[in-house]
Amino acid sequence: MCGIVGYVGDRSGLDIVVAGLRRLEYRGYDSAGVAVVSPGSLLTDKRAGKLANLEKALADSPLATSGTAIGHTRWATHGAPTDRNAHPHTDCTGRVAVIHNGIIENFAALRAELSEHGHVLVSDTDTEVVAHLLEQVMPETGDDLAEALRRVCRRLEGAFTLVAVHAAAADVVVAARRNSPLVVGLGVGENFLASDVSAFLAYTREALEVADGQVVELRRDRVTVTDFDGAPAHPRGYHIDWDAAAAEKDGYDYFMLKEIAEQPKAVADTLIGRIDAQGRLTLDEMRLSVEELRAIDKIIIVAAGTAYHAGLVAKYAIEHWTRIPCEVELASEFRYRDPVLTRDTLVIAISQSGETMDTLMAMRYAREQRSLVLAICNTNGATIPRESDAVLYTHAGPEVAVASTKAFLTQLVACYLVALYLGQVRGSTWSEEIASVIAELADMPDKVDRVLDTMAPVRELARELRECTSVLFLGRHVGYPVALEGALKLKEIAYMHAEGFASGELKHGPIALVEQGLPVFVVVPPRGRGVLHDKVVSNIQEVRARGARTIVLAEAGDESVAPYADVLIPLPPTPTLLQPLVATIPLQVFACEMASQRGFDVDQPRNLAKSVTVE
Ligand code: G6P
Repeated sequence: MCGIVGYVGDRSGLDIVVAGLRRLEYRGYDSAGVAVVSPGSLLTDKRAGKLANLEKALADSPLATSGTAIGHTRWATHGAPTDRNAHPHTDCTGRVAVIHNGIIENFAALRAELSEHGHVLVSDTDTEVVAHLLEQVMPETGDDLAEALRRVCRRLEGAFTLVAVHAAAADVVVAARRNSPLVVGLGVGENFLASDVSAFLAYTREALEVADGQVVELRRDRVTVTDFDGAPAHPRGYHIDWDAAAAEKDGYDYFMLKEIAEQPKAVADTLIGRIDAQGRLTLDEMRLSVEELRAIDKIIIVAAGTAYHAGLVAKYAIEHWTRIPCEVELASEFRYRDPVLTRDTLVIAISQSGETMDTLMAMRYAREQRSLVLAICNTNGATIPRESDAVLYTHAGPEVAVASTKAFLTQLVACYLVALYLGQVRGSTWSEEIASVIAELADMPDKVDRVLDTMAPVRELARELRECTSVLFLGRHVGYPVALEGALKLKEIAYMHAEGFASGELKHGPIALVEQGLPVFVVVPPRGRGVLHDKVVSNIQEVRARGARTIVLAEAGDESVAPYADVLIPLPPTPTLLQPLVATIPLQVFACEMASQRGFDVDQPRNLAKSVTVE
């Protein structure tokens, strides 16, 4: 939510931050802005709308060349997305510029105080108060911008990443973070900071983790990190192994298409290195002792959006293989219901970005209650894995499209691995069964590939249904979360009314929605689970009898569904629990094609942001 970039070095700071913003635009795209410091003066430009508007303005009237620059792409919280509310915000003298990600909760009181002291605030944002506070304290620090920021941070409530530059400090960018992401990229004779590493991956793979409550002073040749009181901090350095090219579109029209196509590799990469020489599952990064794992008597999964759907699938796998009761909860609801948590509760936080505020707050709450927290995350060094007791990284690589695809599949794989591992450690699953599921998982990259090869009819179907106004998705057991995910994808990027239902619930209300010609997707479980399969086949007949156009996803060769399917999408045979790995893909492809047919921005849907860092 909001992307920020900062640079100090010998290249054109403006080019670097604009290129960085292009990578971060998925975090928000209501407006964008930049500031550069050329000795003695500060120049800014900012525009409502997508980054392209700002780029055009900069091309028409370029700012002075400078090696010190900051940039911002916004997802509006306080104030409409206008030029005036776009970041950077400046003070009364126009000598300090500030960009911000997060919410400053006490901004109204600070604004009133500043106005009383004669400051004129021109925007509706919470951010602008920081520029004026810096203006106030800067003279007291002898023009030490980092010290000024520390003093200001001590007065702020809420969550923020703040980045500032000042006309009096030509080669310095300062930044602070509390409950909002910030990473530093270390170059040679140049340094970077950003909301996430994709902004500087083209220049360096060496990064520093900045912890909560720290202030960074970035110069060409050094990076200094302290806490808000000025005590030196010693941040952990790490190497980023993501390939810079992985964050490029690579000839695809949209990142989403590319990321859908990358799923076989993402699944394969997430499985690498999980088996030891004896054929046993090893999850090195788990860092939880066998005693701790054996003592667990309840599992609660917390997550948001697509990651929540992965959690819903995980529940079936965890309870089946471990016999530990498992609840799945929307992270945003979790801590408000006074959940029952003990030292023997394992909370699993699933998050692609590792920065989702709702999920972060939920896991922090669980840790305060002394429960163990395991993160399933795609982003090395992000806040959620850093604050967890244990972590299992997915290896999807950078996911740029707002609608999550490859991260979802890898989250499913990680959940299966955790469930099997718990089953192994606790002795609740036979080793033969674990070995057989692992073998099935190892086949998944090929199966996913096969599904991708047969998607032409699905795209054709989306073109045909372009004008329809509503679509339903039905599933039972693990097919139910798949139905929810199919509906979410369509809502997110094609702006269509779409609902996912447990097919057994149909008769308790939703069937009233069915009318002549309504497209209804049905996820049919593999035939191995006889009763489950047959019940879903009955559900197809029920909607079809009422005029629905049935689009049936079923195991290849499942003849029993053919008579009731207006469109049949064959899936490679899999065990029931693993079926979401193949059944989700046609729904992703359908939504992507639908959004593109309807002329929408597939990668950057309206009102959304990929990483939601406010509650
Ligand atoms: C946002 C995104 C979704 C994502 C959700 C959770 O809503 O638009 O695609 O599933 O956040 O994100 P996380 O990074 O925690 O997995």
